[in-house]
Amino acid sequence: DDPADLQPRPCVVTVMGHVDHGKTSLLDAIRETNVTATEAGGITQHIGAYQVEHNNKKITFLDTPGHEAFTAMRARGAKVTDIAILVVAADDGVMPQTVEAINHAKAAGVPIIVAINKIDRPDANPDRVKQQLTEYGLVAEEWGGDTVMVPVSAKTRQGLEDLLEMILLVAEMQELKANPDRPARGTVIEAELDKGRGPVATVLVQNGTLSVGDNLVAGTTWARVRAMMDYKGRRVKKAGPSTPVEVLGFSEVPHAGDQFFVVPDEKTARQIAEKRAN
Ligand code: GTP
Ligand code: NA
Ligand code: MG
Repeated sequence: DDPADLQPRPCVVTVMGHVDHGKTSLLDAIRETNVTATEAGGITQHIGAYQVEHNNKKITFLDTPGHEAFTAMRARGAKVTDIAILVVAADDGVMPQTVEAINHAKAAGVPIIVAINKIDRPDANPDRVKQQLTEYGLVAEEWGGDTVMVPVSAKTRQGLEDLLEMILLVAEMQELKANPDRPARGTVIEAELDKGRGPVATVLVQNGTLSVGDNLVAGTTWARVRAMMDYKGRRVKKAGPSTPVEVLGFSEVPHAGDQFFVVPDEKTARQIAEKRAN
């Protein structure tokens, strides 16, 4: 893209951390809804993709069920996230999946912001968390390092404003840009076969604008975009850079991590997908 065509885009944030350290609760608190209560057994079944607005700036959040989806995406060469939020429960401290998450974020080369969660708990010990994290090369700014660590509580909502401020600050330094005036490309975040609607995929548009009627290729599948829904389930006709959107019209169910790109017509889409499949 010509630099003159580039415009600022929202940052994409992935929330990672050990089981039950409060990833979903934190996201819920941030967007002031309640998904945890409706999840089977309180375990995240999908990657959720949402957007929130803070100080008139949008932030796109991806919630992850463990790290398999993230690993699958990386294995397919997809780079979707600009910032990783590492959630560590202040009572539990660093656990095996915390370490895995740190390794994932480091391998992906994305900055890590640590959210030390559950600080409302009487047994919370944020200093112990900071101490433990130094062993993995994450040293808090207030301890002379360069990792932003924000004490938060998804329960009392303490620290959430600070966390959003820090996300926007780190994002600002990245000078994230994209060109909305070109055919879209991006990554499949999750996909499934819906009984009524056929293959359904949540995709993240990373560059360009995706429109209803566009033809695209994703891995060995193709789609003529029949309809799109935003993260609130509202029908939309267009989705610009950093926007997560649910897409109907796929030939088959694509894989999480498949990268998609728009092509001029349905025939081309079908041909490329079929060639890749064989
Ligand atoms: P998985 O997706 O299953 O890995 O879990 P998660 O990291 O998304 O954690 P989740 O949001 O499901 O929260 C796990 C438990 O911790 C729930 O019982 C929450 O109510 C509780 N919890 C989350 N955040 C806080 C917090 O800030 N304070 C307290 N006291 N409890 C919290
Ligand atoms: Na949970
Ligand atoms: Mg969860």
